[in-house]
Amino acid sequence: MILVLIGYMGSGKSTIGKALAKSLSYRFLDLDDYISEQESASVSEIFKTKGEIYFRKKEMTHLKAILNAEEDTVLALGGGTPCYGNNMSIITESDNVKSFYLKLSIPNLVTRLSKEKDHRPLISHLQTKEDLTEFIGKHLFERSAYYSEADHVLVTDHKTPQEIIEA
Ligand code: S3P
Repeated sequence: MILVLIGYMGSGKSTIGKALAKSLSYRFLDLDDYISEQESASVSEIFKTKGEIYFRKKEMTHLKAILNAEEDTVLALGGGTPCYGNNMSIITESDNVKSFYLKLSIPNLVTRLSKEKDHRPLISHLQTKEDLTEFIGKHLFERSAYYSEADHVLVTDHKTPQEIIEA
């Protein structure tokens, strides 16, 4: 079984994914880290030197390979993964995959991302909380349709990591 965690940047996919994998004795994979290892470069470096389209192609290739694996896995996607190519159809149509959208409100995303934006190339240039709020509002509006195709939508505001894992 492969449990796929979906959600915007800063929604807790990696943190929750690691703890969930531990509690189920599953392997944990973070798609960004996986791509970084394969490319021997950070996500920011890949965006800078090879461009976003190159990153999206790699993201799709590695996603498909991981979803074909036999091993029980918790997989944290990148925030954009469900929104490119046919990634979301592959996820929802695979029999061995269950997907979960970790849904967090815009103010909570802004609070988290204002502290964690430097390694995220799409938002690292945004200076103020107002800039982040405006960007995330529009971006999330575009992406929500993809995220909402997940098998389960978990609203994570006001929930502890343990409560999210149990849900
Ligand atoms: C992206 C999210 C990032 C990473 C890349 C692009 C996006 O992953 O894949 O910077 O398009 O939302 P996180 O969601 O883990 O930050």
